[in-house]
Amino acid sequence: MVPLFKVFTAPSAAAQVAEVLASGTLTQGPRVDEFEARLRRHFDHPYAVTVNSCTSALHLALHLVKREHGLPDDTEVLCTPLTCAATNFPVLANRLRIRWVDIEPTTLNINLDEVERACTPNTRILLFVHWGGQPIDYDRLAQVRSAYRARFGNDLIVIEDCAHAWEARWRDRLAGAVADHFACFSFQAIKALTTGDGGLLLAPDEHFYRQARLARWFGLDRDNQQDFRGCQDIAHWGFKFHMNDLAAALGLANYPHVASLVARHRENAAFYDQSLRNISGVMLLDRRPESCPSFWLYTLRVAQRDRFCAHMHRRGIQVNRVHGRNDTLSALRPYQRPLPVMDAVAQDMICIPVGWWVSDEDREHIVRAIREGW
Ligand SMILES: Cc1ncc(COP(=O)(O)O)c(C=O)c1O
Repeated sequence: MVPLFKVFTAPSAAAQVAEVLASGTLTQGPRVDEFEARLRRHFDHPYAVTVNSCTSALHLALHLVKREHGLPDDTEVLCTPLTCAATNFPVLANRLRIRWVDIEPTTLNINLDEVERACTPNTRILLFVHWGGQPIDYDRLAQVRSAYRARFGNDLIVIEDCAHAWEARWRDRLAGAVADHFACFSFQAIKALTTGDGGLLLAPDEHFYRQARLARWFGLDRDNQQDFRGCQDIAHWGFKFHMNDLAAALGLANYPHVASLVARHRENAAFYDQSLRNISGVMLLDRRPESCPSFWLYTLRVAQRDRFCAHMHRRGIQVNRVHGRNDTLSALRPYQRPLPVMDAVAQDMICIPVGWWVSDEDREHIVRAIREGW
């Protein structure tokens, strides 16, 4: 079976993790500092805060935005329905209100024209995913934010879920590395860069950076080494969201390999973009000239999806939707509204293996299987 996902661990990972085991510091310590310094250099961004998952990073971002901006319960967050539930559940956990915005049929990202239309005086936050690693149109997003500012005299706060988008670029800028956005990354097992489980918050400024560092561990100032056990006053209660040194050591071991892994994702995607054109029953997604997707997923839209899946499984190829629509989940039903594009995409989207483990022979086999018909 050609799998849809595979976990990468660097040859040096075992030794680096063993070093941490021998060091006596298993929780957040020097390896976390080192990993954060590495991530700051990677993004050329001063405000990188590691945490134990992308879900925690999203929760932390929403929590701090709500607290620091004094937003009341039920403030509206514009959300995409097509993503991992992890994107949207933290909205509920923070007692904010979801307003779904439909997706684009050609990228499966949130539709920014619809975002502009959906804003009301009660809307303060936009939360979206870069589906499969295809970056959102950052130029259009900047226009939407300007229009919001002109209309409501306030900033539309942006929180990016970059779980699929490690190394994705818009023009020459890395997805997520935008001054004044919050951006959340996942280092979960099957992501491009893994720490087993782990996450990263890029904070928009020094203030939110400081608050995020405090809130990730109970509200304690762990930079104050002499006085962080029991004696400190805590101004704001916090979470247990920090990364530990075992995870950071794995991240440091894997980091030097990730650029070449993503490059292979891109090569395989380019091969599919070329080889799967003009096949009856197959609709490919659009590629924007300004963008360089990371292709954590390669998604296409196919007629008679159940038959397609059965055919591909018979050929030994794992295919899957990866994430279903969120708006029809029972937990999120109170927020339902008509989403015609999501309805259509829910019927025909599917992901095929694209990652670094897909060999030249595998990808040719996959294209042959699709060309055969189903
Ligand atoms: C879009 C998206 N957001 C968030 C998450 C959650 O990431 P984590 O497992 O690091 O919390 C995932 C996990 O797959 C995801 O795909």
